[in-house]
Amino acid sequence: MVTSNYLVIGSGVAGLTFAVKIAQKFPNKNITIVTKGNEEESNTKYAQGGIAVVLNEEEDSFDKHIQDTLIAGDGLCDPEVVDMVVKEGPKRVHELIEWETNFDLNPEGTFDLGKEGGHSEYRVVHHKDITGFELERALLKRVYQLPNIRLLAHHFAIDLITDHHLEKENTNEISCYGAYVLNQHTGEILTIKAQHTLLASGGIGSVYGHTTNPIIATGDGLAMAYRAKTKIKDMEFIQFHPTAMYTPEGGSSFLISEAVRGFGAYLRTKEGHRFMLDYDSRAELASRDIVSQSIDSELKKTGDSCVYLDCTHLDIKAFKNHFPNIYDKCLEEHIPIETDWIPVVPASHYLCGGIIVDKDGKTSVNNLYACGECSRTGLHGANRLASNSLLEALVYAHNIYLDLCDAPKVNIPENIPPWNDDGTSIPKEHILIQHNLKQLQALMRDYVGIVRNNDRLHLAIKHLDLIYEEVEELYKKSKVTTTLCELRNMINVAHLIIQQSLNRKENRGGYYNISNIKKASK
Ligand code: FAD
Ligand code: SIN
Repeated sequence: MVTSNYLVIGSGVAGLTFAVKIAQKFPNKNITIVTKGNEEESNTKYAQGGIAVVLNEEEDSFDKHIQDTLIAGDGLCDPEVVDMVVKEGPKRVHELIEWETNFDLNPEGTFDLGKEGGHSEYRVVHHKDITGFELERALLKRVYQLPNIRLLAHHFAIDLITDHHLEKENTNEISCYGAYVLNQHTGEILTIKAQHTLLASGGIGSVYGHTTNPIIATGDGLAMAYRAKTKIKDMEFIQFHPTAMYTPEGGSSFLISEAVRGFGAYLRTKEGHRFMLDYDSRAELASRDIVSQSIDSELKKTGDSCVYLDCTHLDIKAFKNHFPNIYDKCLEEHIPIETDWIPVVPASHYLCGGIIVDKDGKTSVNNLYACGECSRTGLHGANRLASNSLLEALVYAHNIYLDLCDAPKVNIPENIPPWNDDGTSIPKEHILIQHNLKQLQALMRDYVGIVRNNDRLHLAIKHLDLIYEEVEELYKKSKVTTTLCELRNMINVAHLIIQQSLNRKENRGGYYNISNIKKASK
């Protein structure tokens, strides 16, 4: 048993920012962060483009950023949330700078601002093309300086502790009291009790197999929240990034930042046709949903496996300075961008929906907060504007911190039981886990991809049910392992994506279902 004032699940931008703030404010309270891989492994670490924020008020304005966000979200953003996040953004970025995060500057000493799809102005602050890496570095450094934070790497949160574990009769009102956590090195399961728990567990890319996310993005927090009966919404809005580097084997793919298109790169078919001009007047800088759907349509027309990003006309010296990581990665793959085009395809990138939270980051379960990619704040609507995700995590980590500054004490029940795995044994059938994982990812890729239809969605539910039954059977008789829990979580997440896709009767933003068009034209 471990007792903590605050339990934070996840060490990306959302979890670390909150932990630093609350630890600084209350030096006598303790904060436990659990994270399932190395400290820095997260979607945050791989963020390239940067943080969208209005810092140049001569050319840019809050109004323009608000409008761009609302347009990308295709009518489904919460305008009050958009207003709040955009206006809070500059303060949160200045705070990062106080915490020694480095952002690129121009020779004149002003911020070097990038541009990405859907943005009407240059407003993305960045650190070369490794903004997320720099953020993690600065935040982790801060965490290590604070003695009241205990960061437990290689600790996997299995499930939230709720009234359900106390076998309470009245479960209308559910409260959270911490989490059961697996020490991935020893196999021991800790009961971490906490007055307040923050889910900052990131995204779901691995559910699709082909993704820009690292393999740890398995939607664990969402699945835990779902099992705890927390309200979850907008799961149908999966954002596919248009330009993941193409590799025939798929899997986790290297991202070619949208900022490269902001820098002037063109998208071309194998024959050299600059096809985005046929789809949108903003061409390569249309919002992501439009670019991904256009690429999908070109690939279906031509039967090709990828399209190409052409950088050959760009100032290569400036490119190398701006995107050193991308330049080097391309060279490593034998693609000299001075002469060769980069093969790219869309890949699953970001979940716009998630655990519903209010403006203070509160979920529908008492004492449980959610922040970052696992949460659904209303900022993104049907499609997230590029580089608004890091911004959202920073702003909401601050809001949650403010809310908890005044929160009343929570009495943690005495009778929380330890994890019970009586009658279970270590799973021997790893092939079963691997096989079901591959089936799940193929199912999501083939039936629940960029362009959906109801027949395929119904088939997906049917196939998913079979996978679910097989995995639940195994789970019931097994001691928990990370891979088994992750698979189980991904099945929960896939179910939510498919079910909420079927519930959506109208196409918006990143959601495109052919059956809805047929219905509308009848
Ligand atoms: P994450 O950074 O993903 O952190 C989640 C944490 O939770 C991890 O530490 C993980 O190990 C931990 N965790 C998960 N499950 C468990 C569990 N069961 N137990 C314990 N720990 C767990 N957004 C932008 O705004 N700008 C960009 O330029 C940008 N570029 C991107 C580039 C790439 C390649 C990718 C993948 C994403 C990019 N995004 C960008 C999106 C953005 O990076 C993420 O949405 C954001 O970083 C999410 O932060 P987070 O803290 O919510 O989650
Ligand atoms: C990118 O650099 O293209 C990713 C930006 C984002 O996902 O916001």
